[in-house]
Amino acid sequence: MHSRTVAAALTVLMGGAGVLTLSTTAQAAPAVDRVAAAEARWYAAHGPTVIAHRGASAYAPENTLAAVDRADTLGIDWVENDVQRTKDGELVILHDESLARTTDVEQRFPDRSPWKVQDFTAAEINTLDAGSWFGAAFAGTRVPTLKQYLNRVDHNDQKLLMEIKSPALYPGIEQDIVEVLGDEGWLDTGHVRNKLVVQSFDAASIQTLHRQRADLTTGFLGTPAVADLPKYAAYTDQINPQHGTITKEYVAAVHRLTGAHGKRLKVSAWTVDDAANARKVKGFGVDAVISNKPDVVQRAVRP
Ligand code: G3P
Ligand code: CA
Repeated sequence: MHSRTVAAALTVLMGGAGVLTLSTTAQAAPAVDRVAAAEARWYAAHGPTVIAHRGASAYAPENTLAAVDRADTLGIDWVENDVQRTKDGELVILHDESLARTTDVEQRFPDRSPWKVQDFTAAEINTLDAGSWFGAAFAGTRVPTLKQYLNRVDHNDQKLLMEIKSPALYPGIEQDIVEVLGDEGWLDTGHVRNKLVVQSFDAASIQTLHRQRADLTTGFLGTPAVADLPKYAAYTDQINPQHGTITKEYVAAVHRLTGAHGKRLKVSAWTVDDAANARKVKGFGVDAVISNKPDVVQRAVRP
């Protein structure tokens, strides 16, 4: 069965229990157990979820619609991206604070060093070539706006792990993101429960988002000390560490906690591009693996 079909079945099985605060009431405990059992069955059958990092970025220019489509072609349901804000307030998808590495901005605007996203308008960024640096076949590829990106993910029936990148540079970006999500139809129950996780290295940004939209699933990027994990669990659902920083014991310590929505706190490890490390983190029990080569990882972790 295709993973999306199984995911739909799991969603039905989980009913509305996926994002409710069930752990606080005695009669809700069986529902929590049912969800946990369903998730355990899913894991046994499929292994960890594989997430295409910046899209399938080993095969198409990172954070572009081409990288989303490449992940889809590979049968990968989840894509990861990085959100930043332009000078005139548009949310765009780019990893670096500067446009220099992944576009032709230095040639197009030679006097605008250091070519920061926040110093360019959306219209200016939309003239840049974000594909030629990766390969001639991608010449003319654009930096997508968040709106365009959400629509493509929806069109492909994929799911999104969205990173708020460098939020300290962009005061209020959490509210901006919520507004775009609402405008593009991503705050309905179906998206919120099953298709969207928002993560950041910046704990304050995740806390802000959680205060604004407590229904959204969130993740903290990093490897907090075990003693500090309960603090994070108050407002996050996932702890997402660099794969070399974790052990089986660390993953188990995360899993012992309940996240912000009453489900087991989860772990998505990044960035794993080879079979040996994919199998290693699967052995640790991670819930998801984030990869530039999601096809390689998918083959390695599939039971
Ligand atoms: O999703 C995890 C990963 O994207 C975090 O690192 O630098 O690639 O955004 P980075
Ligand atoms: Ca990222």
